[in-house]
Amino acid sequence: MSTVARTDASHIAVHWKEEDYVQPSPKFVGQANLSDPAVVERFKEEHFPECFREYADMLAWDRYWHTTLDTSNPPFWKWFVGGTLNACYNCVDRHLAKYKNKAALIFVPESETEPTYTLTYQELYIRVNEVAAVLRDFCGLKAGDRVTIHMPMILELPITMLACARLGIVHSVVFGGFSGEAAGLRAADSGSRVMVYADAYYRNGKLIDHKTSADIAVQTAANEGQTIDKVLVWRRKDGQDLSNTAMVSGRDYYMEDLLERFRRAKVAPVSVGAEHPLFLMYTSGTTGKPKGCQHRTGGYLAYVTGTSKYYQDIHPEDVYWCMADIGWITGHSYIVYGPLALAATSVIYEGVPNYPDAGRCWRIAEQLDVNIFHTSPTAIRLLRKAGPDEPLKYNYRFKHMTTVGEPIEPESWRWYWEVVGKREAVIVDTWWQTETGGFLCTTKPALDPMKAGSTGPGALGIYPIIYDEHGKEIPAGAGRAGNVCIRNPWPGIMQTIWKDNDRFVRQYYSKYCKDPKSTDWRDWPYFAADGAVLAGDGYYRILGRVDDVINVAGHRLGTKEIESACLTVPQVAEAAVVPVVDEIKGRMPAIYASLKPDVTDGAHVSEQIVATVETIIGKIARPKAVHIVPDLPKTRSGKIMRRILAAISNRMDTGDVTTLANPEIVEQIRKQVQGEGPVELQEGPEDVKRFGEQE
Ligand code: PRX
Repeated sequence: MSTVARTDASHIAVHWKEEDYVQPSPKFVGQANLSDPAVVERFKEEHFPECFREYADMLAWDRYWHTTLDTSNPPFWKWFVGGTLNACYNCVDRHLAKYKNKAALIFVPESETEPTYTLTYQELYIRVNEVAAVLRDFCGLKAGDRVTIHMPMILELPITMLACARLGIVHSVVFGGFSGEAAGLRAADSGSRVMVYADAYYRNGKLIDHKTSADIAVQTAANEGQTIDKVLVWRRKDGQDLSNTAMVSGRDYYMEDLLERFRRAKVAPVSVGAEHPLFLMYTSGTTGKPKGCQHRTGGYLAYVTGTSKYYQDIHPEDVYWCMADIGWITGHSYIVYGPLALAATSVIYEGVPNYPDAGRCWRIAEQLDVNIFHTSPTAIRLLRKAGPDEPLKYNYRFKHMTTVGEPIEPESWRWYWEVVGKREAVIVDTWWQTETGGFLCTTKPALDPMKAGSTGPGALGIYPIIYDEHGKEIPAGAGRAGNVCIRNPWPGIMQTIWKDNDRFVRQYYSKYCKDPKSTDWRDWPYFAADGAVLAGDGYYRILGRVDDVINVAGHRLGTKEIESACLTVPQVAEAAVVPVVDEIKGRMPAIYASLKPDVTDGAHVSEQIVATVETIIGKIARPKAVHIVPDLPKTRSGKIMRRILAAISNRMDTGDVTTLANPEIVEQIRKQVQGEGPVELQEGPEDVKRFGEQE
C-alpha cells in the first residue's frame, strides 16, 4: 500500500464475527409503546413525509401547521410550516392539569450525604417562570437573542434552558467540563451578551470552582469582539459562597438575589414559529473552529418526543435516568426535551459514575426505583472494570437500557445485558449525532432481536444507505464498509450551522448530492461522516468517524482544534493529533509535536502542551501521550501524514513510506514511541485505519 494513495473506504473489508441475536425478554412486549405494528406500517417510506405528523401530534400547537415538509430550498428543509408553539409550554405547562404533583426532575447530588431533591411539574413551572422573568425583565432579552449557558449538572441548568425556551431565546449550552476559553469562543460565535454560570459543583469528591471560568470566558469573548454584559451566577448551595472568585460589580449577579425581585412572577410562553431556532449546540468537525448546530423548535421537539416515546419506551409512570451530561446533545434531547415533553420523571446526577465507589449507580437505581437507564460504552467499560459484580448486589430492575455515543464491543455489551440488565432489560444501541437531533438507527425495544455491537435498522421514518466513495450503494450483506448516509430529511435534523449556510451544505450534503438544482429530497442524502457496514439482516454496525474527529468517551473532539491549541505553545513548530485506542474511553488523542529550531530547552514542553490543551479546550481533551519528535512525516508537497502517526500510536502497519519526503523519520518515531525491539503489529479498528484518509 502506498502512503500517498488514498484507501477507498468501500474496499476495506470488515473482519468481525457476526454476533448472534439475543432475544428480548417477552416481559416487556405488552407495555411497549411500539407494540402496535400499525405504527411501523404508518412510517413506511410511501408515507413519507406525512408519517411525521404522528410525532408533531404528540405536541400542543398554538396554531396547527399547513405543510408537513417544505423542500423548496434544499437542503434547508422546513418542517411543520405555518405552525406555532412553545417548547417550554410543551414540556411544563401542559402537564399541570394531570401531573402537577408528579416528579419532573430528581436531582442526585454527588455527595451521598446530601439528600436528593425532587422538583414536581408544578415546582418546575414556578421556577421556570421566575427565571424567565429575570431573563426578560432584568436582562432585557427577547425571542431570537442568544444566551450561553456554561453550567454543570444541576437542576438550574434545565430550568435555565426551559426559561429561555419560554421566551423563544436561543440557548447555547456549553458542556461544564469545557474550559472558560472554549465557552467564551462559543459565546462570541453565537453573539451572546448574557452568560449563565454556576459558582461551583462537586465532581469526584472535589468541589470545582466554576465561576473562575466565567471571567476567562468573558475575556475570551471580548478578544473576539463580543461584549458579555451580564453574567448570571447560580449558587450550588443557597446562601453559601463556594467560589473564591470575586463577583464583578455591574456584570456578575447571583441568580438568588435577582430572583428575590421576581418571586411569583408569571411569564406567558411566547408562541414561536415551528422553524424558530430553539438552541445551538457546538460540536467539532473537520476544521479548527467548532460549529454551532442550529436546531429548530417544532421539528426538533416533535422528533425527540416521538423517539423518546417509541425508543426510550417512556411512559409517564417510569423513572428514567440518562447519565449523559446535559451539555451534550444526548442530555438536551433525552434528559430534558424528550422526557419532559412526555411528562416523564427524569433523573439528573451531578457526579461521576464511580464516586465514591463502583456501586453508586446501582444504589441510585435502587433508591429511586429507576427502570429506564441510558448511558455510554465508556461508562459501561468503567463500571465493569471498577466493579464487575456490583450490580448484582442491588435490588433494582431495569426494563430498558440504552447505549449511545460510540461503538460498543460485544464483551461490554454482554456485561451490560447479563449483569446490569440481569438478562431481562432490553438494550437499544442508538446511533445518532449532534446534528441529527435524535436517534437515527436502533432496534425496536422489547420487539426486535438485539445484536451486540450493532445498532440496528433505521428508526421510524429514517432510511439509511451506505455509499462507497463514488456514490455507489454498498448493498446489505456485502461485508464492505462505506459511508453511512440518510436518504431523506427528518424533523430532528439541524437547520443549518449558525451563521454558516455554506459550511452546512458543504459538510453534510455536497459529497453525495445528485443534482444541486433539484428540489427533490431524494437527490440530497445526508452525509453523516461515519463509516458503517450493513449486515444481510438490515442491521447497521457503526465503525466510527471518517473525518478528523476523535470520539473520546463518546464526546467529539476535533483533531484540528487540539492541534491549534498545541501551536499556541511558543516552542512548538508543528503538531499532529491522532486517535489512540484506550481501554476505557474508546479513543484518546495522542499528540506529536516538533519544536522550533532555536528551542534549546525542550524539557517541559510536553507538560506545557498538556496544560495548554486543558486550558484552551478542557480536561476532556487531555492527551494520552505527547511525543516530541524531530520532525513529522510529510509528503513531498508538505502534507503531514497523520495516518502514519496513528498507525505508530496503535501499533499498526505503517505501510510503504518510501514516497514520503522524509521516510527515515518514520522508523525514528516508531522506535521513540514503541521502543527499540520489534513489536507485534495489531490490525487496529476501522476508524483508526481510516483516520486521515479524507485529507
Ligand atoms: O461516530 C458516531 C458516534 O458518535 C458520533 C456523534 O457524536 P456526537 O455528535 O457527540 O453525538 C453523540 C450522541 C449522539 C457519531 O458520528 N456514535 C454515536 N452513537 C453511536 C456512535 N457510534 C457507534 N454506535 C452508536 N450507538
